[in-house]
Amino acid sequence: MTIPEVVSRALVDAKRIVVLTGAGVSAESGVPTFRDAQTGLWARFRPEDLATPEAFARDPELVWRWYAWRRGLVRAVQPNAGHFALVEMERLPGGPSVTVITQNVDGLHARAGSRDVVDLHGSLFRFKCAGGCGPVDLDGPEREELPACLRCGAPVRPDIVWFGEALVWEDLERAEAASEACDLFLSIGTSGLVHPAAGLPRLAKAAGAMVVEVNPTETPLSARADAILRGPAGKALPALLAACRR
Ligand code: OAD
Repeated sequence: MTIPEVVSRALVDAKRIVVLTGAGVSAESGVPTFRDAQTGLWARFRPEDLATPEAFARDPELVWRWYAWRRGLVRAVQPNAGHFALVEMERLPGGPSVTVITQNVDGLHARAGSRDVVDLHGSLFRFKCAGGCGPVDLDGPEREELPACLRCGAPVRPDIVWFGEALVWEDLERAEAASEACDLFLSIGTSGLVHPAAGLPRLAKAAGAMVVEVNPTETPLSARADAILRGPAGKALPALLAACRR
């Protein structure tokens, strides 16, 4: 994939890069996106009907089993060339700082080795008490049955931002501060439909950063981006890394 000269120059000059990622960055690892059709046992459910506090209140066992299934899917896949290119970018001697802000809950950026990751929508592999006691450690093999909080007996839930819930304040603050302080903002594999994540490129641009989109298809950001790479993240990110090394 050819990188436009203006983007190559920005990569070489950048001191701080922010990368916003969405489901598209994990697509080439084989993680089904939120909006993909579900398969097997779960085909008759819509994610929008399972990933809500109301669904969990109504039937916590059902929601728990759905997440156990999704954790199984993610454990079986590996980070792809796109994830690894971002790790290499942050390790370039004398290179820019790289902050990854992800809407994905699959943990693949951290598994690949990225060190500065904001999990804006939480993580499949972190848990908390639904009664408000705080984080819960669940080590060991996958729990098929819904666990209870040892402190208050309330059900344990995934530490994920569900539809209708607010983001964690500190995570949003970190994401906004990084976006406002960067000189190059890469928006990769996200449909740009879900706020507040979708507003971060605008913050970056208003603060003077160059905004580059990587996506095989058009999104609402396309008309505002300074440059667009139309292609899959697994090809575009290694090409961007090569441009950094010029
Ligand atoms: P979407 O499923 O809305 O969008 C995925 C985007 O990735 C689309 O724009 C695709 O064109 C693009 N895409 C597909 N394959 C790609 C590839 N190989 N390389 C690059 N791009 C590719 O996913 P998100 O934008 O991540 O929120 O969705 C945002 C949020 O909506 C999710 O985090 C989730 C969901 O509701 C919560 O769960 C809170």
